[in-house]
Amino acid sequence: MKKHNFNAGPSILPREVIEDTAKAILDFNGSGLSLMEISHRAKDFQPVVDEAVALFKELLNIPEGYSVLFLGGGASLEFCMVPFNFLEKKAAYLNTGVWAKKAMKEAKAFGEVVEVASSAESTYTYIPKDYTVPADADYFHITTNNTIYGTELKEDLNVNVPMIADMSSDIFSRPIDVSKYICIYGGAQKNLAPSGVTFVIVKNDALGKVSRYIPTMLNYQTHIDNGSMFNTPPVVPIYAALQTLRWIKAQGGVKEMERRATEKADMLYAEIDRNKMFVGTAAKEDRSRMNICFVMAPEYKDLEADFMKFATERGMVGIKGHRSVGGFRASCYNAMPKESVQALIDCMQEFEALHA
Ligand SMILES: Cc1ncc(COP(=O)(O)O)c(C=O)c1O
Repeated sequence: MKKHNFNAGPSILPREVIEDTAKAILDFNGSGLSLMEISHRAKDFQPVVDEAVALFKELLNIPEGYSVLFLGGGASLEFCMVPFNFLEKKAAYLNTGVWAKKAMKEAKAFGEVVEVASSAESTYTYIPKDYTVPADADYFHITTNNTIYGTELKEDLNVNVPMIADMSSDIFSRPIDVSKYICIYGGAQKNLAPSGVTFVIVKNDALGKVSRYIPTMLNYQTHIDNGSMFNTPPVVPIYAALQTLRWIKAQGGVKEMERRATEKADMLYAEIDRNKMFVGTAAKEDRSRMNICFVMAPEYKDLEADFMKFATERGMVGIKGHRSVGGFRASCYNAMPKESVQALIDCMQEFEALHA
C-alpha cells in the first residue's frame, strides 16, 4: 500500500534525494568508497559543501556579508549558541510555543531577556501581534513556524532591531528577506535533509560584539573561519541537503515551493472547515502551511482513535498530533505531493460519510 508520510520531522524528503543519497552511500562519485567511509577532507567532498553553500545563497537570495554553516547539535544547541554569540545586555523574544520558550530559557543565562508577548494562555493557538520590541535589544528572536501548534509567520516582520529566527520547520517554503536577520537557523530534518545537520545563516559583521569568552565550538566565527570543517561535519546529511537544494532549484525555487505549500494547505484547511467532524486548532490568520493541526469536533470526540485507525489503514503515516496538543497534525513539507494531501482529504470525507 502507498504510504503518505505526514511525519513532523524527521519527515518526507523528495524521492530523488533519497535515491541519489542511497547511491552515494554505496559508491560515492565512482570512487569505490561509500559516502559513509570517506574523509570530510577528501577532495571530492569539499565541492559538496561549496555547492550546498552556494545554493543556499542563491535560493534564499542571501546578500553579501553572510555565511552559511552546517553544524551539529540541532536547533536546540542554537538556542544557546545564539545568546552566547549575540546577547551582550538585552534580548527580546516572542513566545509562540515550546521551541520559542526553550530558546528563551537558554538566553536568560546570558543577559536580560524580555518576553515581548506570549500566546501561552491559549496553548499557542495564535501568534501575538500587538507588542513593542525594546529599541535597545541586541536582537529580537522569533520562531517563524511553530511545528507543534501549526501557526506560522508567513511574512518577515518589520521591527526596529535585527531579528534572529528559528526556521527549522519552514525554511525554503517561502522567499525571505535575509537582510532583516542577523542569524537564521534550524534543524535540517524537515524541509532539507535527514536529521544530523543544523543550518545557520549568520551576518558576519554582527559577530564579535559580545565581551564574554565563547568556547571554541560554540563560536560561530570558528565555523566561519573553517568553512564548517573545524571538526568532522555530518557528511551524509550534508550530501542529502545538497540533493534537496538541487531539487528545490529544479522545481522552480522557493517561490514555487510557496505556491505549492499554499495550494496544499488551502486544500486541507478547506476540508477541515467543511467537514463537520473536524475542527482546526490554529487561529485562521496564523494557520501554518507546513503543519496543519486539527481535532475531532466536540460531538465526535469519542471517534478520535477510530479515525486514526481508519486513516492508518489507508496509508496515512504520522498524523497523530503532538503529545502536548492531541488530535491530528498533518505536516505538509515541500516534498509532500498534492496527491497525498488529497488522499488524506478522501479519508476524512469517507469517514464523515460513515459516521456523520
Ligand atoms: C521550530 C523548531 N525548533 C527547534 C526544534 C528542535 O530541533 P532539534 O531537534 O534539531 O534540536 C524543532 C524540532 O522539531 C522545531 O520544530
